[in-house]
Amino acid sequence: MVLVMKNSKLILKTAIIMLFIAPPLVLSHGDNEHEQKTNVKKELSKDNNLLKAYKEINENYNKNIKPIFKKKCFDCHGLITQSPWYYKIPGVKQMIDYDIKEAKKHLDMSEDFPFISHETPLKDLESLKEVSMEDDMPPFRYIIGNWDARLDKKEKQAIIKWTEESILKLK
Ligand code: HEC
Repeated sequence: MVLVMKNSKLILKTAIIMLFIAPPLVLSHGDNEHEQKTNVKKELSKDNNLLKAYKEINENYNKNIKPIFKKKCFDCHGLITQSPWYYKIPGVKQMIDYDIKEAKKHLDMSEDFPFISHETPLKDLESLKEVSMEDDMPPFRYIIGNWDARLDKKEKQAIIKWTEESILKLK
């Protein structure tokens, strides 16, 4: 009986996850848009003030933000790819792999700030602030059944503070 209960729970979870993961696969935009990634680091050497600002921003990032991102974002946006529990469900692995590919296309945090991105570092900070304020990341389908994946209040505030301070440094 217990075994049956466990199985039906797993099937239900799978169904729910499929429901949330499948639509973005269909709706997401084309691949070509993000082919061009700015090589910020190369351009940097020309501008000392900017270099200094990036350095300060990165110092704060390493101290206060990277530990949060490591826990909550790097699964998709960074180097670490720990398999989440639902990786074991047939078919889900491919969808998660797709998510990781998409996530990195938008914002790759494998390297410290400035991140590898198709946007400018300033734009990246702005979208990091936005997704944190709006609870947009991690994607909703990712936090179902995995509630700890969400940003808690303290983490949210830390990210918002860091992005706001950093944006001022770049303006
Ligand atoms: C399950 C994988 C996953 C996790 C975990 C995740 N993201 Fe994302 N992220 C994505 C995907 C997929 C996209 C691109 C498509 C989209 O916007 O949904 C994205 C896009 C973004 C963008 C760009 C949005 C834009 O407008 O271009 C930002 C910023 C971002 N994520 C920040 C974060 C932060 C901060 C965290 C951690 C708190 C996080 N993400 C965790 C999958 C993930």
